[in-house]
Amino acid sequence: MKRQLHLNLFIHSRGHHEASWRHPASSPLALTDIRYYQDLAQRAEAAKFDSIFIADQLALGEDVAQAPRIWLEPITTLAALAVSTTRIGMIATASTTYTEPFNLARQFASLDHISNGRTAWNIVTSWLATAARNFGGAAQVSHADRYARGEEFMTVVKALWDSWAEDAVVDDRQSGRYARPDRIRPIDHCGDFYRVAGPLNTPRCPQGRPVLVQAGSSDTGRRFAARHADAVFTAHMAKATAQEFYADLKALAAAEGRRPEEVLILPGLSPMIGATAAEAQRLAREVDDLCDPEVGRKRLSNRFGGHDFSHLPMDRPLTLADFPDPGSVEAARSRTEVILSLVRRDRLTLRQLLGYLAGARGHFTTAGTPEQIADLIEDWFADGAADGFNIMPPLLPAQFDLFSAEVIPLLQRRSLFRTEYTGKTLREHYGLHWPKSAFEESAHD
Ligand SMILES: Cc1cc2nc3c(=O)[nH]c(=O)nc-3n(C[C@H](O)[C@H](O)[C@H](O)COP(=O)(O)O)c2cc1C
Repeated sequence: MKRQLHLNLFIHSRGHHEASWRHPASSPLALTDIRYYQDLAQRAEAAKFDSIFIADQLALGEDVAQAPRIWLEPITTLAALAVSTTRIGMIATASTTYTEPFNLARQFASLDHISNGRTAWNIVTSWLATAARNFGGAAQVSHADRYARGEEFMTVVKALWDSWAEDAVVDDRQSGRYARPDRIRPIDHCGDFYRVAGPLNTPRCPQGRPVLVQAGSSDTGRRFAARHADAVFTAHMAKATAQEFYADLKALAAAEGRRPEEVLILPGLSPMIGATAAEAQRLAREVDDLCDPEVGRKRLSNRFGGHDFSHLPMDRPLTLADFPDPGSVEAARSRTEVILSLVRRDRLTLRQLLGYLAGARGHFTTAGTPEQIADLIEDWFADGAADGFNIMPPLLPAQFDLFSAEVIPLLQRRSLFRTEYTGKTLREHYGLHWPKSAFEESAHD
């Protein structure tokens, strides 16, 4: 069978363009209305997407006056979506820095039972500096410490998910035996950050373990992904950097003894679609015109750990001297590198940079016809830049509907994308192997 694309719908605000929430073509529903998310999940399932994804932040954005910086908690939201869909995978963000591993392991195992094996966890260490204030700390945990804690966190949650054998539950009313104690075991973890006895109090989930997604692209982030991730989200504004990332991460995974197809790489793509290229560009300008540059300036500051850009004029070409040294940024390190490579390459003014980032926060944005979008997708897929895409429609649901109605049929006609689901679980959609529990591991030793 020809290599197939993997497509995820990234549900965010009323679209990924910063001003999407104000545009008349975006949904009229409130962002706290579960019907908004249920509707998008059902549309993505109808388009045979592999999965949907809901991101998260653990602090309210300071620019909430001008932009919808609110979040329904992803795991809770996906539980509601799990019962209004049957095939589509669902990915929720959760933090290794501000969550207890026992709670998180239980929440995702439960969601995997509720969704009959369609759950994934987007592992984040929480780059947002202001999140620390909500978890007892004043100062942000350093980039290095976040990943060190994250590493031990992974050891604990994997051991907890593997603490039940698949056949541990007997549920025999006649004999009065519910489970086989010899098929459930404690983990007795004692580490630098965590002491967890286990076992988990939720039986082994349908996928064995939820699918693991990660999105950190710094050197540390890449090595973390190579060890743990089944799928990796990444942000690139040029095909060349996406190819470099792809080759590097597959090599790092191989060095961990993993096969290339065991780690799927999904760059973000935010396409504005029109019947003609001119129409698509006109629509893109229309949404850009709704932007408030001060929102962009605050967002840029967040990306650089709170660095103050308020003194910078909007229309003078930027230089690297206008930015802090990326190595000193404890926030989202790789994203600062994406931004600086853009400034270096195109000698942008602040207004132009904010215009770029308003599109999709440093992910690849484009405006064109359905054929042009399908050609771009096929090109990156065939040329070592992607195993699929994290689709980020600038306006929701309008631009997702266009993508499903116009681009998906083109990809299907080129035999690049499924016309029907062949599996029931996210692992099957992604073509991933089934992880062994601790019992099978020891049985096979
Ligand atoms: C598609 C995508 C989705 C992300 N979702 C979240 C999220 O929901 N919450 C979060 O705190 N960080 C999120 N991130 C940020 C990453 O988890 C990570 O912190 C960031 O890429 C910087 O990682 P690095 O410092 O290793 O480069 C996302 C990144 C990408 C590319």
